Amino acid sequence: MRTPVIAANWKMNLTIDEAVTLAQKITTSTADIADKEIILFPSFLQIPAVSDIIKNTNIGLGGQNVYFEGIGAYTGEIAGYQLKDAGCTHVLIGHSERRHYFHEDYETVNKKILQALACNLKVMLCVGESLEERENGVTEMVVVDELESAFQDVGINKLQELYIAYEPIWAIGTGKTATPKDANHVHKIIRKTLTRIFNEEAAGQMRILYGGSVKPDNIKSLMQQEDIDGALVGGASLLLESFLSLVNYNR
Ligand code: PGA
Repeated sequence: MRTPVIAANWKMNLTIDEAVTLAQKITTSTADIADKEIILFPSFLQIPAVSDIIKNTNIGLGGQNVYFEGIGAYTGEIAGYQLKDAGCTHVLIGHSERRHYFHEDYETVNKKILQALACNLKVMLCVGESLEERENGVTEMVVVDELESAFQDVGINKLQELYIAYEPIWAIGTGKTATPKDANHVHKIIRKTLTRIFNEEAAGQMRILYGGSVKPDNIKSLMQQEDIDGALVGGASLLLESFLSLVNYNR
């Protein structure tokens, strides 16, 4: 009942030309796929060109970040309305690389979510624990704190616009993946927390993606888990063949 989502986080990779070529090939090769939602998160500079390519398709397009103020003198930042204007439907918020390298705290993440929703962007919120937190047995606490702080003041009418990506930080770009069972355990905790914050029906409908070294050879076992509804993919989304095999994991 929850349509699987396969999302590509291209991070700070590719030239505009390379992004265009990849987006064109993805668009052509996935034209007959109706049982999944595909979302591309290119870098800001690639967004207008990629938007042109996907505009008559069902492929979603998102920014990897957004600023929490609406408009004005914030040199170097990108506003939600500008993402929308450039063709975005989605935005990634709270990625661990943003939290760690750019010191985005709970409050920043919450303000960004409120701003993005006000601009009618769908939000993919990333949560996940570090290796140290996992080893200290506080994974559940970290994930619950991240969810509760992120969704402060988010109205229940906005739930259709939200996705969660559970990305254990120690699994991102490292080749290590959580076992499907371990990942599913955290996804269940996330859904339970969403039930508490919102309600059971909404939590049951929300897509919770797994991210962290998802590859063609491990996606199937992850997607077989009851509470894993998709994948947010970095490295393996940069090559056409591997991204297509991720999208076609069940064929
Ligand atoms: P990875 O990145 O697939 O390269 O581990 C995932 C992410 O950071 O979204």
